[in-house]
Amino acid sequence: MKIKSRLTNTENINNYFASVADAYDAPINQPFYTDVARRLCCIILKNGLKPKRILEIGCGSGFATREIVNYFPHASITAIDPVAELLAMARSKVGGCVDFINQSYAGFAYEKQADLIIANMSYHWLSKGERLKLAAEIKAGANVALAAPLRTNHSSAFLGRKYSGNRVLLQAFRALAFSGDIDIRDKSWRGLEPAAAEKLGFELKIVEEHKVIEFMAAPEFIKVLSSRGLLPALFGDGADAAQLWISKYLSHQERLALAWPLVFCLATSHTAL
Ligand SMILES: C[S@@+](CC[C@H](N)C(=O)[O-])C[C@H]1O[C@@H](n2cnc3c(N)ncnc32)[C@H](O)[C@@H]1O
Repeated sequence: MKIKSRLTNTENINNYFASVADAYDAPINQPFYTDVARRLCCIILKNGLKPKRILEIGCGSGFATREIVNYFPHASITAIDPVAELLAMARSKVGGCVDFINQSYAGFAYEKQADLIIANMSYHWLSKGERLKLAAEIKAGANVALAAPLRTNHSSAFLGRKYSGNRVLLQAFRALAFSGDIDIRDKSWRGLEPAAAEKLGFELKIVEEHKVIEFMAAPEFIKVLSSRGLLPALFGDGADAAQLWISKYLSHQERLALAWPLVFCLATSHTAL
């Protein structure tokens, strides 16, 4: 029997992130999101952008928000996220210096237009309509800086064989495909295809590629997969089945290395097509 799709619309994505909110501030997540956000802030500075008004899309529990506040202390910052539980965690990290709004990007209306929009690991969750909204903002003069997982042609290319954690994911992928539970052509993979942005009317310039490699014990591995949206991103409809398969397959003592390729991109009003 095929597993039914869960993460095909905004409501389901929001429910998913709400369900993993508790696990978000796990010690393994903090260095990951913080390092990615710092790298992104450095890229913004290196490219000479001097933002006065920043909009952060998908601030989650605020790891990136905290870095944005540190790197751009003179900017006025608005951070949005549709998940109230995560927004509360973000507020407790940075307090009153950021204007937090409980909204998806689709539902967000500006009081004052931002000159820089930051999306730290959230762009790939946006709907096509939201990406079009972003394109319109770029055309109107906003700059965009984002970090996202790179979408490859196939999950196998993303997962690779070199790292134990990636190997486990690949094995789960094959086992589920073999049992007919997920489609090996993995249409549900969520990640960034820079070329796809061109079809929406703007060019996403890749300014840096970076493979993040983390080492962790088996229980942490499972926490990472579920809390970061990696299971639904890789397995789509088969996320639950994959988690079950992986939990049964791993022994508690096992240590794993997980690697995933990220891209850091800029889109500026000069790159609007
Ligand atoms: C992987 S998390 C990244 C969290 C955060 N940016 C960080 O670096 O710690 C993705 C976040 O995007 C949010 N998100 C998903 N869809 C969204 C949308 N349509 N508009 C705004 N935020 C969205 C989720 O609720 C989640 O908090």
